[in-house]
Amino acid sequence: MPSVKEELTTIQSRQILPAEERHAAELAFLAAHDEGPRPPGWVLTPSAVVTFICGSQGQALTLPPRRRKDGELPAKLVVAPKFVGERALVERCVVTLAGERGLLLVGEPGTAKSMLSELLAAAVSGTSDLTVQGTAGTTEDAFRYGWNYALLLAQGPTPQALVASPVMTAMRTGRVARIEEITRCLPEVQDALVSILSDRRLNIPELAGTSDASAAAVPGFTVIATANLRDRGVSEMSAALKRRFNFETVHPIADADAELSLVRGQATAAVQRAGAAFAVDDAVLDVLVTVFRDLRTGRSAEGWDVERPGTVMSTAEAVHVASSLGVAGAYFAGADVLDLVPGHLLGAVHKDDPADHGRLLGYWDGPVRRRAEDGSALWRRLWDLRENLR
Ligand SMILES: Nc1ncnc2c1ncn2[C@@H]1O[C@H](COP(=O)(O)OP(=O)(O)O)[C@@H](O)[C@H]1O
Ligand SMILES: [Mg+2]
Repeated sequence: MPSVKEELTTIQSRQILPAEERHAAELAFLAAHDEGPRPPGWVLTPSAVVTFICGSQGQALTLPPRRRKDGELPAKLVVAPKFVGERALVERCVVTLAGERGLLLVGEPGTAKSMLSELLAAAVSGTSDLTVQGTAGTTEDAFRYGWNYALLLAQGPTPQALVASPVMTAMRTGRVARIEEITRCLPEVQDALVSILSDRRLNIPELAGTSDASAAAVPGFTVIATANLRDRGVSEMSAALKRRFNFETVHPIADADAELSLVRGQATAAVQRAGAAFAVDDAVLDVLVTVFRDLRTGRSAEGWDVERPGTVMSTAEAVHVASSLGVAGAYFAGADVLDLVPGHLLGAVHKDDPADHGRLLGYWDGPVRRRAEDGSALWRRLWDLRENLR
């Protein structure tokens, strides 16, 4: 047994912790706070799951002394919001899962579909680990099972030689399985899920005639899948599979201030992980988020038309740029991060389509220039940095 200290060192040395570990204290608190009835297999009540994801709206939740587990849990806790968006959307997702239906989150890249699926799985079943990453090379084994070939050769097909997929493990343990980017898998591979979601059973023909010839799903099992509208779309999904999912569309963050504070918060955390303090001016972040929003929506805050680049200007990408500015500011003394903004924007905008470069220049010659002419010092400096876009 490793000592607690050793264990902590290994945990802290991981680059990214899964949601259930990152938010372990909040999850334990919410489990004790809301003792109401839960759907079978759930670690929290449906309403506590929503509170975990959307936050407690700044209010401190209180725990009576008898539920504090000998002082292990705090008496009061404000639950931080994690997903920024409509609470009603999160409630619908939770209701879908409580009804043991599949949930499909669709939307543009970088709208926090994966994050939402991870948070839901962590809050509902205590683990977000049972995940399949869909790719063009994903085979049915990823949804069903494979074999440990050494054991298969030595023993033949036995339960010990079988290697369960994350989906199979979720079925057996009554948990949520996550399937990322489901539409990247070939449609015939996706269809392995049809029988799993309808029969709630997985046949293992190799073990026919034994008691292990099928794996049955226990209560609590369900699936959350995500799909990007930019990849091969959901249009190629079979009708049979579509019917087994409730679709929820996740939109980019509507409110500019909410997006700004999210970008600030996440970039601060990222720079702290890089071992430095975040010291980028709010005014610079405001410029950055404004550019992202204008290019994403095709319209500036003032109502001017903007030509949209082909690349998705997602919040996730804005967080990355803000983090890079933070790291540069912290590690390159004397760097003025505003000078770096055009270069980073170019990197975010110009991915594969050369015309996107022209669109960014067009944005400079339009809104950036007009704001500079209207007397804003910050936009004036950005305008002067147009050369950096070459
Ligand atoms: N509505 C949102 N709420 C919280 N974070 C968001 C939101 N939209 C984007 N983000 C940011 O985007 C990051 C990555 O999103 P991700 O889940 O990978 O997107 P997707 O799976 O939709 O491509 C999140 O970690 C977060 O920093
Ligand atoms: Mg994703």
